[in-house]
Amino acid sequence: MSETEALHTRLVGEIEAATDLDAIEALRVATLGKAGSVTGLLKTLGGMSPEQRQDEGPRIHALREAVTAAIAARKAALEGAALEAKLAGEKLDMTLPAVATPAGSIHPVSQVMDELAEIFADMGFAVATGPEIEDDWRNFTALNIPETHPARAMHDTFYFPDRDEEDRAMLLRTHTSPVQIRTMMSQEPPIRIIAPGRVYRSDSDATHTPMFHQVEGLVIDRGIHMGHLKWTLETFLKAYFERDDIVLRLRPSYFPFTEPSAEVDVGYKQEKGRRIVGGNGDDEGHAWMELLGSGMVNRRVIANCGLDPDVWQGFAFGVGVDRLAMLKYGMDDLRAFFDGDLRWLSHYGFGALSVPTLSGGISA
Ligand code: PHE
Repeated sequence: MSETEALHTRLVGEIEAATDLDAIEALRVATLGKAGSVTGLLKTLGGMSPEQRQDEGPRIHALREAVTAAIAARKAALEGAALEAKLAGEKLDMTLPAVATPAGSIHPVSQVMDELAEIFADMGFAVATGPEIEDDWRNFTALNIPETHPARAMHDTFYFPDRDEEDRAMLLRTHTSPVQIRTMMSQEPPIRIIAPGRVYRSDSDATHTPMFHQVEGLVIDRGIHMGHLKWTLETFLKAYFERDDIVLRLRPSYFPFTEPSAEVDVGYKQEKGRRIVGGNGDDEGHAWMELLGSGMVNRRVIANCGLDPDVWQGFAFGVGVDRLAMLKYGMDDLRAFFDGDLRWLSHYGFGALSVPTLSGGISA
């Protein structure tokens, strides 16, 4: 056996016996590295006679290939073993009882939106959505609020500096009513939707935050009248507050996109510093709280969406979700809703696994 063959046997033996990745790396440097033994042998080829080289060359090259392959194989084996060991060390027995209860909870606004979706789904309403960045045509013009209309100034709108590709002013929607426009333009009547989401107005105190939540409702069909609106709101509020003695007051009002329009108040009384819904607002100790705006969809809005107002009528309403939450769950400062204080959330938040259902209880 030649010297090269002896070296071949020895090196491959050493590599296969290596027990960790550091040892493999040391062997690689000692053989294939710049000053390594195999590299040194390859260098001797240059000084050999052609005959010698023909004889020794294939052996040296075979040695280099064998050493390279042996290192790669041993390295892969050691890495595989290391991974196995790591996985075995990290194994979790999912059948063991939990050490800590999960701490996540549902924000009251999310909870109320889920409750509304459940209540309205039962009445045949689908959920629609629209973007929070709107254009002024959908947020105002199509809703019968032209540029010169005083209602535009009333909305304390946040505008973007740029216009969109249709040269419309861009803004943060001031209400969920643009979803009425989006729905009527993309869906054939009959339409029955609610549209929950965030809205923005430049306004801030204990009962106003620059971002708040509304749920829009829209029904478009043949022969719809105010009676349908009143029944729908009464049924919804009774289901939401989970009591039958809810008293509503419809006050004549004005919105450019509804005609006639009504604002809806709910009767409540003060109990231990908390507002409790129920009873007639005219009784002693009772008062009215404004909850929502509503009305019959203005003919001009229906026409703006390409529908014939002589065929299709409907009603719409917009309700403040944060207000609904305050009234039902007894919070008194709206600003705390968006402070992100975990103590507030663990006090008022809802269990992540308690999903509101009509059968199981809306706020179970
Ligand atoms: N968009 C109105 C608001 O934000 C509420 C509303 C919606 C009124 C639908 C009538 C009909 O104040």
